[in-house]
Amino acid sequence: MNSLGDSYKALVIGSSGTIGMAFATALKNDPNCRLVACLSRNTVPDFCLENEASISYSAGLFASEAPFHLIIDATGALTIDGQGPEKQLSGLNPIQLSRAFQINTIGPALIIKHFLPLLDAKNRTIYAKLSARVGSISDNQKGGWYSYRASKAALNMILQTAAIESNRSRPNLVFAALQPGTVASKLSANFVSADQCLPATVAVQGLMTALDSLTTKKGAYFIDYQGQEIVW
Ligand SMILES: NC(=O)c1ccc[n+]([C@@H]2O[C@H](COP(=O)([O-])OP(=O)(O)OC[C@H]3O[C@@H](n4cnc5c(N)ncnc54)[C@H](OP(=O)(O)O)[C@@H]3O)[C@@H](O)[C@H]2O)c1
Repeated sequence: MNSLGDSYKALVIGSSGTIGMAFATALKNDPNCRLVACLSRNTVPDFCLENEASISYSAGLFASEAPFHLIIDATGALTIDGQGPEKQLSGLNPIQLSRAFQINTIGPALIIKHFLPLLDAKNRTIYAKLSARVGSISDNQKGGWYSYRASKAALNMILQTAAIESNRSRPNLVFAALQPGTVASKLSANFVSADQCLPATVAVQGLMTALDSLTTKKGAYFIDYQGQEIVW
């Protein structure tokens, strides 16, 4: 990446996942990136999106490597405890709905709360969270996938709201909700065959190019791996 200078530091959260790992690899290969720190349940076994204390504890582990210039949160889940996305209202159950929000909305919101202070306050910085196009309310033509869609739509609102608040104290911070395209991974495996998917390397290269070109504004971006804006 070029927009963060020639000595930037990056942190990838969810680095055990397909997309998180592809980000970590791409950043390690970027000559302008001086440090790539990684967080997942592989690196910090207690880290859990459903436990704020573990998120706060994990943030503390990275304080000595701060300030970071780029944070990518690539966590998320579609199938939870073996339960896939609900196709119909009759399939809704409160436990699955609540766990989807815990993992896709509340956990990522608490990650922003605890990790934002690790970003450089003076220079250009980027906070990017993997969202999903299906979290767009305006783009929803097919229905279905209630808890995943709703938890990603709520995540998008958290990102937009955090971006507006942060703009006052951190005018050089760019917030982005990312749609990676359909990438073969543990998350997508039950719903699409691998030959219909983008390689994670292509999705991540596209997202990094798109992030590089974003200018600061009062609000978050919602963009895909080709740099196209998605309606909220
Ligand atoms: N793949 C796609 O086609 C696609 C499309 C649109 C959006 N996305 C979004 O992209 C992001 C990454 O997806 P992916 O395809 O790379 O999925 P993935 O390979 O399944 O990775 C998911 C990541 O989230 C972590 N995670 C899940 N639940 C957690 C929990 N309770 N506590 C801590 N970590 C947890 C996983 O950790 P463990 O390894 O420890 O389980 C892993 O690091 C997600 O937000 C997804 O919604 C993906």
